[in-house]
Amino acid sequence: MRASLSSYAQDLATATAMPALDVMPEKAHQPAMSPSHHGHGWDASGAPTPMHKRLDGKVAIVTGGARGIGEAIVRLFVKHGAKVVIADIDDAAGEALAASLGPHVGFVRCDVSVEEDVERAVDRAVSRYGRLDVFCNNAGVLGRQTSAAKSILTFDAGEFDRVLRVNALGTALGMKHAGRAMMARRYGSIISIASVAGVLGGLGPHAYTASKHAIVGLTKNAACELGAHGIRVNCVSPFGVATPMLINAWRQGHDASAADDADADIGLDVAAPSDQEVEKMEEVVRSLATLKGSTLRPRDIAEAVLFLASDDSRYVSGHNLVVDGGVTTSRNLIGL
Ligand SMILES: NC(=O)c1ccc[n+]([C@@H]2O[C@H](COP(=O)([O-])OP(=O)(O)OC[C@H]3O[C@@H](n4cnc5c(N)ncnc54)[C@H](O)[C@@H]3O)[C@@H](O)[C@H]2O)c1
Repeated sequence: MRASLSSYAQDLATATAMPALDVMPEKAHQPAMSPSHHGHGWDASGAPTPMHKRLDGKVAIVTGGARGIGEAIVRLFVKHGAKVVIADIDDAAGEALAASLGPHVGFVRCDVSVEEDVERAVDRAVSRYGRLDVFCNNAGVLGRQTSAAKSILTFDAGEFDRVLRVNALGTALGMKHAGRAMMARRYGSIISIASVAGVLGGLGPHAYTASKHAIVGLTKNAACELGAHGIRVNCVSPFGVATPMLINAWRQGHDASAADDADADIGLDVAAPSDQEVEKMEEVVRSLATLKGSTLRPRDIAEAVLFLASDDSRYVSGHNLVVDGGVTTSRNLIGL
C-alpha cells in the first residue's frame, strides 16, 4: 500500500488526457447475486476463492480511487471479482493503479464537484460494462489547515464553498447519476465515505464537519427515495487513517507555507508520505483511540465498504457504518 502511495506525486503535466476507459465496450456477465453465502475460502496468497468472491460479476465506480482509502477499496473490490472504474482528478496515479490491476480496471478523469464529469464517468462505465451495481462516493478534501481557516470567526467563504462542493455536492451528484443508472435494473448499492466528523463535533475543521454531516443526512434521504427503486444507500464513517489526506494536514500544521497552498490538502503536487510519516500518524491515531491494540488502516474501511456493496448487506439501507473502535460512542470519564 505504501509503495503505491508514491505514484500520486507524479507530474500531472505528463499525464495523458485520454481516459483508459476509451476502449472497446465489454459486457459484464450476469447475474449480479453474490455467491458469498454458499462457500468460504481463500487461496494461498490470501485472495478469495471463486466461491468467496463477494462482488463477482459486479460493476463498480470508486471516486477518489487513485490513492488512500479509495485505492484500498479499489484493490479489495477487484480481489472480490468486480470490474472497477477509478474516477479521480489525479490522472497519473489513477491510470498507473488501473494499469497495475489488469484489464477489468479502468480510469476516468472526474472532478466530483463538476456534474458533467460525474455524468460522463457513470455513462462510460455503463457503456463499457452494460450496467452499474456499486457506486462509492469516496473522493473528499479536508480543507486548508491555517489557523484563520480553522476558526469560525475568520474562515474564508471561498474555501468553505470549495470543501462543500467536493464533499457534499460531489456526493449528491454521485447519488444522482448512479441512482439514474441503477434504476433501470432496480438494483444497486451506493456507499459514501463520511467521517467521525459527521457524527461528533470537534473532530475536524468546520467546513469538513459540515460536509460530512451533510453526507450522513443525504444518505438517509436518498435511501428513502431510491429504496422505492430497489437501490440501497449507505455510508461509512472512518476514524483517523494515515493516508495522504491526514499526513498532508499534519504537514500543514507544522509548515505555514504548506498551509497557504490552496492545493496542499489535495496533495497532487506534494511528496508522497514517507514510511516514517505514516508510522508517526498511526501512532498519533492510536494514542487517541478508544480501542487499543489495533491500528486502523485503509483496508479496514474497504472491508466495511465491501460489506455494504455486496449482497451480504442486502437489507441494509440508510445506515451509517461507523468504523472508529468506539470513539464516537463512549468517553471514559469515570475511570472505567
Ligand atoms: N484519512 C482519514 O483519516 C479519513 C477519516 C474519515 C474520513 N475520510 C474520508 O475518506 C475519503 C478518502 O480520504 P483519504 O484519506 O483516502 O484522502 P486522500 O487525500 O488520501 O485521497 C483522496 C483521493 O480523492 C481524490 N480527489 C480529491 N478531490 C477530488 C475531486 N474533486 N474529484 C475526484 N477526486 C478527487 C484525490 O486525488 C485522491 O486520490 C474522503 O472522503 C475523506 O474525507 C478520511
